Amino acid sequence: MRIPEHIVEQIIRQTDIVEVIGEAVQLRKRGQNYIGLCPFHNEKTPSFNVLPERGIFKCFGCGKGGNAAIFLREHQKITYPEALKELAKRAGIVLPDEGDRESREEYNRQDNAFAVLRAAGNFYYLQLLAESGSEAMRYLEKRGFTEEIIKLFGVGYSPDSFNATGAELKSQGYAEENLLDAGLSIKREEDGRVWDRFRGRLMFPIQNPTGRVIGFGARRMNDDKTQPKYINSPQSLVYDKSHVLYGLFQAKDALRRLEYAILVEGYADLISTYQAGFQNVVASSGTALTREQLRLLSRYCKRLHIVYDADNAGVNAALRGLDLAVEEGFDVAIVTLPEGDDPDSLIQRDGAEAFQRCLDKAQSLVNYKIEVFRKQGKLGTPAGQADAVRDVVETIAKVPDTFKRDFMIRDVALRFSLSEHDLYRELNQMLRRQQFQRIDQAGRERRVETNGIITGRESSLAVLVPATQALVTQAVSEESAKQQAPEGRYADLLPEEQELLRIALTQAGAVGYIMQRLHISVESFITETAQQLFQMIADATEHHHEPLSWLMQQEALTERNGSLLAALAVREETPSERWRDYNVEMQEDLKTMLRDCMIKLHLRRYDEELRSLQEQLKHAQDHEEPMEHSLEILKQIKSADEERRRLQEVMMGAVV
Ligand code: GTP
Ligand code: MN
Repeated sequence: MRIPEHIVEQIIRQTDIVEVIGEAVQLRKRGQNYIGLCPFHNEKTPSFNVLPERGIFKCFGCGKGGNAAIFLREHQKITYPEALKELAKRAGIVLPDEGDRESREEYNRQDNAFAVLRAAGNFYYLQLLAESGSEAMRYLEKRGFTEEIIKLFGVGYSPDSFNATGAELKSQGYAEENLLDAGLSIKREEDGRVWDRFRGRLMFPIQNPTGRVIGFGARRMNDDKTQPKYINSPQSLVYDKSHVLYGLFQAKDALRRLEYAILVEGYADLISTYQAGFQNVVASSGTALTREQLRLLSRYCKRLHIVYDADNAGVNAALRGLDLAVEEGFDVAIVTLPEGDDPDSLIQRDGAEAFQRCLDKAQSLVNYKIEVFRKQGKLGTPAGQADAVRDVVETIAKVPDTFKRDFMIRDVALRFSLSEHDLYRELNQMLRRQQFQRIDQAGRERRVETNGIITGRESSLAVLVPATQALVTQAVSEESAKQQAPEGRYADLLPEEQELLRIALTQAGAVGYIMQRLHISVESFITETAQQLFQMIADATEHHHEPLSWLMQQEALTERNGSLLAALAVREETPSERWRDYNVEMQEDLKTMLRDCMIKLHLRRYDEELRSLQEQLKHAQDHEEPMEHSLEILKQIKSADEERRRLQEVMMGAVV
């Protein structure tokens, strides 16, 4: 199939390249652009660049580059037209498929649905500006919405008539079938009568992430309680409410820039919040938060501030949404508004600052849950408290990141004056249960795939054992593969790595401090040996073992790692001269040393990165690549160099 040139252009224009590549590559923002580890060749320092403004990617290491379709072609090993098709689907652009007649008809119906929805949006907007929409316009003004924001969100007005919208759209060439497909008309089966779904209402167009209109939310303008306050588009060829976040299209840039989302409930809430300057706002609009909505959002950011009315009757539904968000890996905070307010009413009455103050007071998930239990009077008795703790720990068990979990457990321990040890016991029990559920589930799904139907409990238990075994076998073979891997450039531990590992191994609580306060993770270490050892120490600590003796007992411990650990642990005193000169308290000393090691590690990384950038620069110039490549590399060298220098200054400050 040949895709017409103008459609190719449209596809590329409407594709968000950061979004597409971000699903395959962990991207980090640098200036206007994004960098990451190239998926097309093996590298340890990132030379893979995505330039969203120009819609291209470029790896300065292996030279691959191009637009989003080329990325997909290379990455998914598909043809260029297939890649374009894939992108078209994501953007909601319908292609004139030359395949079988059925799929072409489906394409056409979708295409027409998109087109008629766009036309309807335009019509409603013009109606709002027209004389007949003056009452609606006054209503919007009264609610404090500016002309500018009305245009940005395409708010409109549907005429108070059973056929005005339909007649207008038909006069533009759309068929009744198109209107029905798009959910704009309603048909009564008994007598075949057809009429306009939206009549005399404020119209909020619902857009997909690329800006296409896929449906409407429609608010009545009077207080007629016999009519629903909102009518939404029905599920259709192009609209699935559980997959949509209202306002996402307008919020995209701000979500990436600010790296968090504010989630509100309603259309008016969203528009008021956006107008007040909080552009990183999205709304779930009338559905409980779904997993699909969260996955959609997670392409843009991983932190979420959920705003709920204080008097929300559906606190329990809200709590379920929180658990889902946590499971999807979001950092969740809960923003509580004054009694009786929603974001719209608060902002319109007290202004943006009032809303900002609420944001500033956002509660962690743990605190929020405890607060809810307190309000429900459940914390009065020991039994109630135990229930509450269990409930909170159950949520914590859903957090995918173990270090966030540690942090939250500490929080709960403090709040309830419980021992962390007991909480971990509870947590580990739940984790085990969840793990078995997952294995069980995975086994079940595999079975269903291969064998068709599974019945009863027995069969699901039967798959549990082999599945567990498979996991173990996999882990073992991964481990032995690692051990056989050729040693990297830094075959031996670096001095700062030795120091970090030694302290992690011998000082209680050091691992937590290293990971949480210094943000050092396994990947921060440079040599593979150090990465392995640190992972082992962290695992041991996580399971509340005294790491040294526990690790030494492990059968899987290699001789080499065993002797390394022993050597690290034995060298109790530090080789650092400065360490002895300090006359401050021991604890402080340790922290200073750790910080020092961390900075040294970072400095080494920057050296590595700078070296690789210099090589890339040379490569680009030798191969007479376009000048902008060299300039881009130079810019990166400058920024890495600056960051390196800044670190060095910090370090000097620490030394003096
Ligand atoms: P305003 O009253 O205009 O400020 O709207 P609101 O968003 O504050 O309304 P409310 O808090 O009552 O409802 C929150 C959200 O739930 C709305 O934005 C709608 O998405 C949805 N909703 C509210 N009422 C209805 C209804 O009658 N039917 C449907 N389908 N959804 C509704
Ligand atoms: Mn409201």
